[in-house]
Amino acid sequence: MNKTRIVVIGSGAVGSTTAFTLMLRNRADELVLIDANHSKAVGDALDMNHGIPFLGATKLWAGTYEDCKGADIIIITAGAAQREGEPRTDLLKRNVSIMESIITEVLKYNTDGILLLASNPVDVMSYYAWRKSGWPVNRVIGSGTLLDSARFRYLIGNHLGIDPRSVHAHIVGEHGDSELPVWSLANVAGTALQIDESDKAELFANTRDAAYQIISAKGATYYAIALALDRICTAILRDEGAVLNVSTLLEGYHGISDVYLGVPCIVDRNGVREILKLDLSEEEQALLQRSADKLKGLNDSITI
Ligand code: 2OP
Repeated sequence: MNKTRIVVIGSGAVGSTTAFTLMLRNRADELVLIDANHSKAVGDALDMNHGIPFLGATKLWAGTYEDCKGADIIIITAGAAQREGEPRTDLLKRNVSIMESIITEVLKYNTDGILLLASNPVDVMSYYAWRKSGWPVNRVIGSGTLLDSARFRYLIGNHLGIDPRSVHAHIVGEHGDSELPVWSLANVAGTALQIDESDKAELFANTRDAAYQIISAKGATYYAIALALDRICTAILRDEGAVLNVSTLLEGYHGISDVYLGVPCIVDRNGVREILKLDLSEEEQALLQRSADKLKGLNDSITI
């Protein structure tokens, strides 16, 4: 029987925490860590493998790009991370050049896997990876606003005293400062949320600015993004058809085309199967258009 393999490129805070999360959840038969600093990947692999007796039979090692051969999912977390107060988009130039070398190496060994991008600015990195790889759009996915929507659901649930898993609320658009809350469709069991406007504004601001708060407090974010990436891997490997707010290429989505943005998508074994068109209010459509315009400008600023 074919063994499932996930490769994590970048063994920094996000990459190593993601690999550890995937191991904890026994997500794949094989996990490979790749880092430009091979010694870091070796150290992380050693440290994680020593925990295997407490877990299960995952085979995990520090590898090279040759280990991308046969991988089901290749998660790319490598790149510069935000410094305190630094917008994700300031990472663009540095991370595009890193991404170019990564995609070039991956394509030498893998042509039929799924690329899952987490490097920021993730929507632009995903668009770049799609164009650079030439892979079909369904197999080039960004973590998108899945993490932002989880933050949003947590904060709303905490505000209402309801399990956040029972709160259905979307953040869409850029994984970044121009993201927007879809308050018009937010609900608990199909009932509209009873939250006043000032509380709504605060809940959204805390969602949008969560990374800045966390980075200011401890230097980086990695736990929730690792769980978000694991969630996407689960939907793929189990062929779930789960609805997840990942970043994908929009074509004619409320008049928006040729840009990667976070929107609800059906995710299965083949990656993004279908994009779900939210019935956005006019104000929400305008905000999504603004987010799209910002990211298209960034896409146009990079050489592909
Ligand atoms: C986050 O939102 C930094 O994009 C990362 O946690």
